[in-house]
Amino acid sequence: MNGRITFTMIKPGAVAKENIGPILKIINEKGFHIVAMRLTQLSTLQAQTFYAVHKERPFYNSLVQSMTSGPIVVALLEKDNAVEDYRKIIGATDPAKAEEGTIRKLFAESVEANAVHGSDSDENAIIESDFFFNHSERFYKSIK
Ligand code: CMP
Repeated sequence: MNGRITFTMIKPGAVAKENIGPILKIINEKGFHIVAMRLTQLSTLQAQTFYAVHKERPFYNSLVQSMTSGPIVVALLEKDNAVEDYRKIIGATDPAKAEEGTIRKLFAESVEANAVHGSDSDENAIIESDFFFNHSERFYKSIK
């Protein structure tokens, strides 16, 4: 993977704890450019659709409930090797396993309320950006 785009969400727990600013500061300091960003709140259908890949998992309903519990920040980030580098700075899904200094180690409350989401592939970065930003390809064009 060597795409220049990744997608992130700052999850409801982190937004409620006033951690939007501290998380965005780390994102910028690590060399990511914020190409598009919005504060929004997921409907149940949107959360179910976004996380449909996990629908057979035992945590699915609880995840959907948690992701719809309050506002989130959605953002399109740009950097060389964006997907991989962003996953490094957010740390492991389970904050107990995340490295010191990572966003999840610093801000996550639990494996479910783990502060941020980051795309896991270049393909999903585009799918996930398209989920929230109309005609998001216009942002990719401005980057090339
Ligand atoms: P995210 O990176 O958004 O992708 C899927 C989400 O499912 C993950 O972060 C967590 O919020 C949640 N998740 C993954 N594994 C578990 C688990 N074992 N228990 C509860 N929630 C989980």
